[in-house]
Amino acid sequence: MSMIRSVIRGCGGYLPERIMTNDDLAEMVDTSDDWIIERTGIRTRHIAADGELTSDIGVASARQALERSEMDATDIDLIILATSTPDQTFPATAVSIQAELGITHGAAFDMQAVCSGFVFALATADNFLKSGQYQRALVIGAETFSRILDWEDRGTCVLFGDGGGAVVLEAQKLNGVATDRGILASQLRSDGRYRDKLFVDGGPSSTGTVGHLRMHGREVFRHAVTNISEVIVDTLKGTGYTADDVDWFVPHQANRRILEGTARRIGLSSEKIVMTVENHANTSAASIPLALNTAFEDGRLQDGHLVLMEAMGGGFTWGAVLARW
Ligand code: ACO
Repeated sequence: MSMIRSVIRGCGGYLPERIMTNDDLAEMVDTSDDWIIERTGIRTRHIAADGELTSDIGVASARQALERSEMDATDIDLIILATSTPDQTFPATAVSIQAELGITHGAAFDMQAVCSGFVFALATADNFLKSGQYQRALVIGAETFSRILDWEDRGTCVLFGDGGGAVVLEAQKLNGVATDRGILASQLRSDGRYRDKLFVDGGPSSTGTVGHLRMHGREVFRHAVTNISEVIVDTLKGTGYTADDVDWFVPHQANRRILEGTARRIGLSSEKIVMTVENHANTSAASIPLALNTAFEDGRLQDGHLVLMEAMGGGFTWGAVLARW
C-alpha cells in the first residue's frame, strides 16, 4: 500500500575556519595529545570565530543542502533546528535561519535534545511530513559548544567542537515497502533520572546565566553503548533488516570507543562506521549531519544505500533512525 515517505533530497555542512589541535589544548590545560587520542580518538576540532553564531553556521549548512537538493529556500515549509547553543534564549534560532533564508511561510522551531537533537529533529520532521501537514523540511543541527565549555576543565573542554550540518526532506508518495527511499523507521527515548550526568550549570530560570557544560564522563560512557544498542535493535525490528544489511553506520560522534563498542555490540563491521570524531570532535546535534555530509562528499554515500543513524546525549536522551539515501 502506498505511503508518504520523507525522502532525503540533499545534505550540507559547515565547519568554522579555525582549527584547534590537541597540542593547542595542552597549552591551556594539563592534558596531552596522547591522552586525548587514546581515550577519545579526537585530534582536532573547529572553533567558531568571534561573532560567528549558531544561526550563521545553520544558514551555511542549509544553503549547501538546498543547493544539492536543487531547491529554492522558498520551497521549504518546515525548519527544525537541533541545537543546545542557541543565539539567544528566545526567539528560536530557527526563525533567524528562516529569515536569513528569506522564508516567510510555514513553521520554524528549535529542538532541544542535546547530542540526540538531530535524531529527534529528523524523527519529528518525518512525522510532520508523513501526516501531510508539511511538504519539504530543512532539518539542521548546528552548535557553538565552544561558548558553553569551561576552558579550565580538562575533563570536558577537550571533547567538543563547533559546526553544523543539514538535510532537506521531501514528502513523496512511495510504495510503502522496505526498499523505498527515505526514512524507514525511527525510535526516540528519554530518561530524566540521569539529567545530572551531563548538563549545563546555568539557565534563564535557575541562575539567570548561560552556564558551562558539566559531565560525569564515566557514567555517560557506561550507559552509552547499552542504550544505543537497544534502541538500534528496536529500530531495525519490523523493517525486515538486520545490522548486516546496513551500508553505513552514521553515529553521533562522541568518542571513538563508544562508536566502535556499539558497532561491535550490534554486529556491524567497523568498515561501515562513518567516523569524523578525529577531525570534528563532538559537535553535539551537528555531528550526524556533518558525518553524513563527509560520507556524501567523499563518495561513500550513494543513492539507495541503507543508513543507520543513532545518538545519545544529555537527559539522557537517545534514539536511532534508519533511512535509505
Ligand atoms: N587529559 C589528561 N587527563 C585527563 C583529562 C585530560 N583531558 N581528562 C581527565 N583526565 C584524567 C582524570 O583527571 C583522571 O585522573 P585521575 O585518575 O588522576 O583522577 C583520569 O584522567 C581518568 O579520568 P576518567 O574520567 O576516569 O577517564 P576515562 O577513561 O573515563 O575517559 C572520557 C574520560 C574520555 C570523558 C570518557 O569517560 C568518555 O568518553 N565518556 C563519554 C563522555 C562523552 O562522550 N560525552 C559526550 C556527550 S554524551 C554523548 O555524546 C554520548
